[in-house]
Amino acid sequence: MKTLIEPFKIKMVEQIKQTTPKQRHQILKKAHYNLFSIRAEDILLDFLTDSGTGAMSDRQWGAIMVGDEAYAGSRSFFKFEEAVRTITGFKHIIPTHQGRAAERILFSLTVKKGLRVPNNTHFDTTRANIEYNGGEAVNLVIPEGKIPSLVHPFKGNMDVGRLAELLERHHARVPLGMITITNNSGGGQPVSMANIRETSRLYKKYGVPFFIDACRFAENAYFIKLREPGYQDKALVDIAREMFSYADGCTMSAKKDGLVNMGGFLALNDDNLAMNARNMLILTEGFPSYGGLAGRDLEALAVGLEEVLQEDYLRYRIRTAEYMGERLLAAGISIIRPTGGHAVYIDAKDFYPGIPAEQLPGQVLVCELYQRCGIRSVEIGTVMFGKKNPKTGQTVPAPMELVRLAFPRRVSTQSHFDYAVEAIIDTFRDRDRARGMKIVWEPPFLRHFTAHFAPLD
Ligand code: F0G
Repeated sequence: MKTLIEPFKIKMVEQIKQTTPKQRHQILKKAHYNLFSIRAEDILLDFLTDSGTGAMSDRQWGAIMVGDEAYAGSRSFFKFEEAVRTITGFKHIIPTHQGRAAERILFSLTVKKGLRVPNNTHFDTTRANIEYNGGEAVNLVIPEGKIPSLVHPFKGNMDVGRLAELLERHHARVPLGMITITNNSGGGQPVSMANIRETSRLYKKYGVPFFIDACRFAENAYFIKLREPGYQDKALVDIAREMFSYADGCTMSAKKDGLVNMGGFLALNDDNLAMNARNMLILTEGFPSYGGLAGRDLEALAVGLEEVLQEDYLRYRIRTAEYMGERLLAAGISIIRPTGGHAVYIDAKDFYPGIPAEQLPGQVLVCELYQRCGIRSVEIGTVMFGKKNPKTGQTVPAPMELVRLAFPRRVSTQSHFDYAVEAIIDTFRDRDRARGMKIVWEPPFLRHFTAHFAPLD
């Protein structure tokens, strides 16, 4: 059969509220054209993020009922620990409430002023936690990873040449090195096993501990199975194990490939670092057998980690983004190619060639998609990453103007995606009528979350 079906049945449904374009116009205006300020109830299809937005299975909900809420030594902790160890093989497994909590603990113990942490591309919170500790977050993705239209099977790969150079010159100032699988900030692009192996070899050569940012490790494992010679007949869990075998530890936001709504962990082999991490955990997250989570959360996570490596699930998951991508490309819409694991990224600069970066084409598209069709997406361009020149007050545009539609796991049906495709194509056909936007108010940091916008006259 050519039709790929969702590999699940729906047992419980959540109603989505229908609104009219006229109502959405008012809602958008009231939210100052910032989609973070819109109530989720007023959204038809919410593609803001794939983080913590997935649907749990009946097995996960069942596991929740047997959660052991003991403060210390909970049975649920040991189930969680075993599930993580089966996949990662790491010695110490420390639960945290989400990914950035693991990052904060790891970097506060390792990063100081003057130190550098390389990665293919640091996620925002990873970068922010490194910088908060005085360090420098260095991005070393391969050049192909920065060209949206260029097709490459592993666009998330580390530029090992540049990494070798950095380590040769500065290894004494590199307290740890990372790689992010998949590379979210670069379009959810995978990293090949060969590249993980080579990155690991380089870090080892210079005695630099290697940590994987593992949020979307299962999606990465599936891409390796699809695209890397020698892995076609391997079980996904074995591919995952091999990826982790090259590293000394990982940080994980289980809100992605843990298939839970909240959770994360830090896993590592170094005894001393683990001891310090647990002490830090006690200070801010909780006792090491729960670390900011309830026993029931740990149960659901243990099941989620098993389900996320099921081949039927990953085939459907990766195919969803690919299917949307194919249809958008066929309509002449530029996207990051090939599509990654968790999202489709539209090139808003190309979508609106008449709207210059200073007039925020990504924000225009995000607002248009909401107002016309009730879809929430997120701008990843000049609103998020643009800077203001302190002398001239002029906006310095971001290198790319992207709009991300990230897909919650196991939440939407094919017709939801067909609707989204139709909405985007419809908006594209009307692109000549769109006007630019401006920022009318912004906070001192992370402006995209709360800034106020207005359409240009
Ligand atoms: N690393 C990566 C690669 C991520 O994508 C995220 C979160 C984190 C770390 C932080 O994890 O949110 O659990 O603290 N990404 C979400 C997103 C927020 O929308 O891409 P967290």
